[in-house]
Amino acid sequence: MSVQTPERAEQIVLFGAAGDLSKRKLFAALYQLECENLLTQTTRIIGVARNEFTDEEFKAFVVENLTTFVKTGLEDSAVERFVARFEYLKLELSDKESFKSLADSLNPDVMTLHYLATPPSIYGLITEGLNAHGLDNANARVVMEKPIGYDLDSSKVINNKVSRFFEESQIYRIDHYLGKETVLNLISLRFANSLFSTNWDHSSIDHVQITVAESVGIEGRWGFYDQTGQMRDMVQNHLLQILSYLAMEPPTDLSAENIRDEKLKVLKALRPIDKTNIHEKTVRGQYGKGHLNGSPVPGYLEEEGANTESRTETFVAIKAEIDNWRWAGVPFYLRTGKRMPCKHSEVVINFKHQPHNIFSESYAQLPANKLTIRLQPDEGVELTVMNKVPGINSKLEIRETKLDLSFSDFNENERVIDAYERLILSAIIGNQSLFIRRDEVEAAWTWADSIIGAWNSSNEPPKTYAAGSWGPVSSISLIARDDRNWDE
Ligand code: BG6
Repeated sequence: MSVQTPERAEQIVLFGAAGDLSKRKLFAALYQLECENLLTQTTRIIGVARNEFTDEEFKAFVVENLTTFVKTGLEDSAVERFVARFEYLKLELSDKESFKSLADSLNPDVMTLHYLATPPSIYGLITEGLNAHGLDNANARVVMEKPIGYDLDSSKVINNKVSRFFEESQIYRIDHYLGKETVLNLISLRFANSLFSTNWDHSSIDHVQITVAESVGIEGRWGFYDQTGQMRDMVQNHLLQILSYLAMEPPTDLSAENIRDEKLKVLKALRPIDKTNIHEKTVRGQYGKGHLNGSPVPGYLEEEGANTESRTETFVAIKAEIDNWRWAGVPFYLRTGKRMPCKHSEVVINFKHQPHNIFSESYAQLPANKLTIRLQPDEGVELTVMNKVPGINSKLEIRETKLDLSFSDFNENERVIDAYERLILSAIIGNQSLFIRRDEVEAAWTWADSIIGAWNSSNEPPKTYAAGSWGPVSSISLIARDDRNWDE
């Protein structure tokens, strides 16, 4: 049976072309694809927004943002080729008729990527507008940014609106963590190395820690963030996706459906957390004022535009458990927060202790092996092993040694690829494996909603932590109760 290669998109329509995501990420990512010759000669990019731009003004706007956000510097000839692809269309998204001009400018026979870089509340309007002029045909794909909803019900409303016109196979839901080199590397690490694949379960692993720490606060996004909080902003998507990659069964192959089927099983096997166990399994915090890099920073309730009564969490720690054969008895401790001491994301796989210690002269308790996967920055993988201390000493002394594989050591001249470059390219070539399927979104919301509901009904405010610290003290107790501690 011959496998049909999906058609490559050669028309990219960027809804929200004047917005923050386009300015910071999307223009730069598309520009890098240009530099790598990954856009075909005939690829067009149509910017859509409400602003008044001529084509020339829009091109100047693109260049201005490339200058600000492309860290590697710009190459004149590539910029020239790149901006020549751009056109601009002013559309009133609530007026279906205004989509006619888009339909007139697109070639219906060419695969088109509609990138919705707009608030999710208008995804429905946009897809209706596309439908009104036949732009929801088989030659179309839609890319949707997170958040897909605010909870399970609102995610269904958004997904139902879009799926009236587009099949699931045409919908690409972004979680930009899946485009990160190190997150994708979790799949190679686990399934291309028998050393790990044969030791990846409850018989060898004691527990797993996932930390995603950011030093930034809410960056002027009070309105959005206060409605959202760290659970919805980071855990429901990014942390659960990392957890799914770590915990899933080996997929039969790398196809989108097989990978997503396995991730879904993990999300469905997460033990529910509700009001009966919320105190034991979770900690939520909110940063107060503190210091970062030696400078004072305001607390969450002192941020610009703040409502001083807000109980929104900026830090979450959770003891997650997966009720399946592989992971019975192995907790996954998740921790994420804003205004932590530094930007630092990592996964630590803590292996079990040896059953008996014959090296008590070196260690009263033999340290267990630890695999640390540094997601960002300073990407790399580190394995702690016990090694003999060299020398003629008659005692067999041992010590902990680190095998450190820093990505920068073997990719010295390689530019770090931004997640959006990989994701846009995947959507262009029609590979859905790095995008979230609807059932995954719903399983993740089901678990997250139960936690948020339990917090709301407990009526307890989040615990305050000083900006620049690793979160509330109770997050240390969460793991210390199990006789473990966070890896610092
Ligand atoms: C986004 C969140 O999805 O991810 C932000 O909305 C967060 O609040 C950001 O700062 C973190 O992404 P990264 O790639 O910088 O780790």
